[in-house]
Amino acid sequence: MRSDAEHSAASWATFVGRPYYRQAWSELLHSVQTGENAFRKAHGKGVWDYRIGHPEESAIFDRAMGAFSRGVAADILAAYDFSPFTEIMDVGGGRGFLLAEILAATPGSRGMLFDQPHVVATAGELMDAADVADRCKIVGGDFLAAVPEGADAILLKWILHDWDDDTNVAILRNCRRAIRADGRLLVLEAVLSPPNEGADAKFFDLNMLVVPDGQERTAEEYSSLLAKADFEVTDIIAAGPHISIVEARPR
Ligand SMILES: C[S@@+](CC[C@H](N)C(=O)[O-])C[C@H]1O[C@@H](n2cnc3c(N)ncnc32)[C@H](O)[C@@H]1O
Repeated sequence: MRSDAEHSAASWATFVGRPYYRQAWSELLHSVQTGENAFRKAHGKGVWDYRIGHPEESAIFDRAMGAFSRGVAADILAAYDFSPFTEIMDVGGGRGFLLAEILAATPGSRGMLFDQPHVVATAGELMDAADVADRCKIVGGDFLAAVPEGADAILLKWILHDWDDDTNVAILRNCRRAIRADGRLLVLEAVLSPPNEGADAKFFDLNMLVVPDGQERTAEEYSSLLAKADFEVTDIIAAGPHISIVEARPR
């Protein structure tokens, strides 16, 4: 819980203790009874719109995500070789914690960080701190509208679990239009195990229902979702206890 400790849980604890987040969880019964999103019931709008109007909450959330991402970055780098890629784009990459670590570990690759404009506004500091700023472009935008073209690796980490299938197909089609023909899409998520296994991912699944209105998915569900956007799954690689890399190529 000390903010100066390595792999500190302080920023995560700060985030989940915020009153607006707890108010959403107080509507859990509504979600369980109806399948509808508790956050919208509590606040009258979706969580991403809410955070645009509450920059202090957005900053606390971005820090929590960054700390979580930093915690799993070593597992991701140990599980997957990013060095064959010339341009790695992290779509919805937050302030760039993971991309900075990947670029630091793969000096031959260039990067592109893509997220909402208010989120990437301060990402330059992190890229500077990791000494990768000269190899990384930072672009603000809306992945529901379009994503920049030209990458041969596109990362989507903790993105698809935030949305329903139709929205995900729209995000994935934008990635499909943007990715190079020989590229790889890398979906980093907690893949659901069979019943009575992997309790963490099932708790995350509930959290997705309550807060962003999404869900965790099984390997089969990811395959069929990706197929709808013309991607074919080539591998699923475990990267530590909480995350898997679903690797896919354009068909
Ligand atoms: C659960 S966070 C994951 C962040 C990061 N990939 C990570 O793993 O730490 C989801 C991210 O999606 C971004 N996001 C939400 N809606 C977006 C949109 N319409 N366009 C671009 N990014 C968006 C948020 O700003 C946030 O950074």
